[in-house]
Amino acid sequence: MKGVILAGGNATRLRPLTWVTNKHLLPIYNKPMIFYPLEAMARSGIKDVLIITGPSHSGAFINLLKSGKDFGLRLSYEIQEESGGIAQAINLAYDFADNGKILVILGDNIFTQSLKKDVEEFNKKERGAVVYGKNMATQSKQYGVIESKNGKVISIEEKPENPKSEIGQTGIYMYDRRVFDFIKNQKPSKRGELEVTDLNNNYVKEGTMICRILSGWWVDAGTSFDELLKANILVAKEIKKESKK
Ligand code: G1P
Repeated sequence: MKGVILAGGNATRLRPLTWVTNKHLLPIYNKPMIFYPLEAMARSGIKDVLIITGPSHSGAFINLLKSGKDFGLRLSYEIQEESGGIAQAINLAYDFADNGKILVILGDNIFTQSLKKDVEEFNKKERGAVVYGKNMATQSKQYGVIESKNGKVISIEEKPENPKSEIGQTGIYMYDRRVFDFIKNQKPSKRGELEVTDLNNNYVKEGTMICRILSGWWVDAGTSFDELLKANILVAKEIKKESKK
């Protein structure tokens, strides 16, 4: 299984911080944001990771991360020329995936749980997908909302007016090799994007989408200044806790 990190987009919600900097290069306490999903990949036992980013900042990513050796990873890079949504970006990993399964992490998702066991388990499966959920209570309207029963997903709705549950869809997904066939048949949403929720609903329809609830904390650091600040504080606390051990 290979890893894919999505690090493109214009991050309009974080302007003026992101006028000249890609949001995934912004600091989260003592490291650039992109380090966290990369470390999560390494912790999960994945060795080959593709970073997908926009044309204006790709050079900065290569300067910063190089071959990936310092993370114990082999890094590849792909350029997303237009901002066409998460599913459109995932599609750029077609050659890299080489008919295998992929773990996708959005580059601004910062979390503590190790995915190692789940990756090993998913590797043994013949087909299907996994979406990670988190209880988002009142905030769930800002996310994809997952309705599930005994771990099996029944529906996912993108930013619904009346959420059917409090479980929000994080930016962490595992897919079998058919993910690219599903993307090929996708149509853009109202906001003109190939939505990850529409992609995931292909698996929901055939009954092969599993929802796992993330333990520990999770922050979608790229959504607002408050979330960015929250990520900084949580990481700082984590480091201080570790240094006292
Ligand atoms: C995207 C997805 C949404 C998901 C979120 C997680 O939202 O469309 O379903 O909950 O990522 O970060 P966006 O950031 O594109 O608004």
